Amino acid sequence: MSRTVLLLSGPNLNLLGDREPEIYGTETLADHVGTATEAGLAHDLHVEHVQSNHEGELIDAIHHARGRCAAVVINAGAFTHYAWAIHDALAAFDGPVVELHLSDPKTREPWRHVSVVEPVADAVIAGHGGDGYRMAIDAAAELVDRV
Ligand code: DQA
Repeated sequence: MSRTVLLLSGPNLNLLGDREPEIYGTETLADHVGTATEAGLAHDLHVEHVQSNHEGELIDAIHHARGRCAAVVINAGAFTHYAWAIHDALAAFDGPVVELHLSDPKTREPWRHVSVVEPVADAVIAGHGGDGYRMAIDAAAELVDRV
């Protein structure tokens, strides 16, 4: 198995830095991808990043990771809360899955308390802002190296 980790970013995360900075911070998505890439280097993991505002494109990226990537780290944005097709695609992925959020959705509006990713996730990192990107890659590395 390769040492590539697929880092997936869902809808509206392309606006990070600008979008509700009081919740999501001022760092951009590129900053977070940089953090994840650097964290990956420490574990000999290559981070491949895909961002899409379209559910089907995220599903295609998960399918493309099957048999090719060692792990998936996913911040599915609002798709987290209702996109069961993403849940099914992740269930069909053979390696570890880490669910990632900048904020902690469980402490926000009630509709954010449900995660369809959580039942298929091996680890969840939420509420740590940008540090979560490093923590999620560290968690993925531990899960990959455990098997
Ligand atoms: C988010 C939390 C989601 O509820 C929200 O829809 C997002 C971002 C986070 O990273 O905190 O778009 O996934």
